[in-house]
Amino acid sequence: MRLNRRQALGGFFTAGVVGWAGFTASDISVALAQASPPVERPLLPRPVLLAAGDELVATAAHPAFAPQAEAYGYNGSTPGPLIRIRKDEMFRKVVRNALTEETSFHWHGLTVPTLMDGQPQDALAAGASTEIAFPIIQRAGLNWYHPHPHGHTGRQAWNGMAGFFVIEDDEENALNLPSGEDELILVLRDAKVQGLTRLIYELNPDGHEGDFPVVNGVAWPRTTLSNRLVRLRILNGANARVFQLTSEAPMIVIGNDGGLIDKPHLVDMVEMSPGERVDLLMDLRRVPPGARVGLNCASAEWKLLEINVMAAEPTGWDIPERLSEIEPLVHGSGEPDRTFVFQETDRINDERFDMKTIAFAVEQGKVERWRFASARGAPHPVHVHGAHFQIIGGQHTNGNPRRDYAWERGWKDTVLVRTHESVDVLIRFDNYEGRYLLHCHKLEHEDHGMMLNFVVAKDTVEAMRRAEVENIYGPICWPTL
Ligand code: C2O
Ligand code: CU
Ligand code: CU
Repeated sequence: MRLNRRQALGGFFTAGVVGWAGFTASDISVALAQASPPVERPLLPRPVLLAAGDELVATAAHPAFAPQAEAYGYNGSTPGPLIRIRKDEMFRKVVRNALTEETSFHWHGLTVPTLMDGQPQDALAAGASTEIAFPIIQRAGLNWYHPHPHGHTGRQAWNGMAGFFVIEDDEENALNLPSGEDELILVLRDAKVQGLTRLIYELNPDGHEGDFPVVNGVAWPRTTLSNRLVRLRILNGANARVFQLTSEAPMIVIGNDGGLIDKPHLVDMVEMSPGERVDLLMDLRRVPPGARVGLNCASAEWKLLEINVMAAEPTGWDIPERLSEIEPLVHGSGEPDRTFVFQETDRINDERFDMKTIAFAVEQGKVERWRFASARGAPHPVHVHGAHFQIIGGQHTNGNPRRDYAWERGWKDTVLVRTHESVDVLIRFDNYEGRYLLHCHKLEHEDHGMMLNFVVAKDTVEAMRRAEVENIYGPICWPTL
C-alpha cells in the first residue's frame, strides 16, 4: 500500500494499519506530517513554572512530535520547567539525575561559582543528586539550563534536555514591557525522527541538524495573539542550526543574552546561532484581526510558528524610547590580548579539550580584548562561561569590517563567528575566581573537543601553578569557595 501525502496527512491521528516497508501507516503519516506542517498545526504550549519546593530532575520524557520515543527532559517534560527568579535573590534547588547515565546541570548565561556551573568535571552520576545554591548577581534576562557532560552534551540536548531560567529586575519592570498573555518565551530547535518511535541522532562532527522545526517541544505549532504589541523572548536551543528569523509583522530587538540593549532597533531579520537569545517586540497593532503572521526561518524556509491575530482591547504597552544604560568596557590597546582560532570540527588553537588542562589564566576585574577567528568548519557559535562580553568589531579575511548587528549590542555570552570571519570582544570577569569554559556551542563541535578550560584569578601566576599541580595529581580543592 502506498500512501500519497494527502492520505498520509489525513491519517495523522489514526494508527495501526501496517503499511509498506514494515512501518505502520501512522509511522509514515507522522514522518510526512513532520517534514512539512500538518493541515491543523498543534497548539504552542507555554512553559510551566517549576514550583518553589520541587527538585529539578533529569528524567525520561516523551516529545510531543514522537510520543513513543524514549527521550529526555526535566521533571518528565521536554523542554523542562521554567525557572523564574529576581535579581539579588538566592537560587536554591536540589537537582537530581534520574537518568541511567551521567549528566550535569549547567546554567547557561548565569555567573555562578565554578562548583555550581555544571561543568564536565562535575557531572552527576546516574541516580545522584546535589544541592545547588548561588545568588542572582546579574541583571534581568533570558538564560537557560542544559546538560554539559563531556562528549554527550549533543546527544542529551538533542534528546530534549533544556529549560528556561528567567531573571527579572526593577529596571526591566519599570519599562512596562508586554507581559502575561502578550509575552511568549520560545525555545527553537530542529528534530529528526523515525516515525513516532525514535529520535535520530548522529554524532556528526559537522553538526547535527534536523528536518523539521520544534518550538517549545512541539513540531510546527500555532498560537493566537492579540493585535497588540507582543514580546517574544527566544532561545536557539538547537544543536547546530542557525535560524534567520523573519516575520510579516514588524520586529523590534530590545535585548539578547545579557538582557536589555541600549535602545530598540527595528530589524528585518535576526540571525541566531545555538545558545543565543533574542528579546523582540512584535508589533501586531496594525495587523488586521483574522490575519495569520509567521515567525519564520528564512534560511530553512520554515514557518516556525503560525500566529493567528485576533482583535482585543488595546493595552498600555508601547515601544520604549530608551531601554538601558550599557556601561561600555574600555581597553587600552587596540590589540587583542588573546586570539582563539576555531578549527574544523574539534580544535581551538590546535588543541582538543582535555578536562585536566587549563589553557590560560585571566586576571579578575581586568578588561581583556579577545579575538575569536574561524578557520574552517564555521559557523562557530562561541560561548564563554562566567562573564558577558561586548562585541566591538571584527573582520572578514578579505579585509572588510564585520557588520554591526542590532541583536549583538549590549551584553552577550555567545556570538556567531561566520566563515572567514573574526570577532573582537571586550570581556571582564568581576565575580568569582575559579575555572570556566570557552567553547563552540555547535554541540557536536563541543563534544568533539572544540572547548577549553581557563581560570579567573587575582594571582594568575599562582593560578597556573595550581592548575599544573592539578593536572599531575588530579583535582584538588579548586577553587576555594
Ligand atoms: Cu550552553 Cu558551556 O554551555
Ligand atoms: Cu554556558
Ligand atoms: Cu564550531
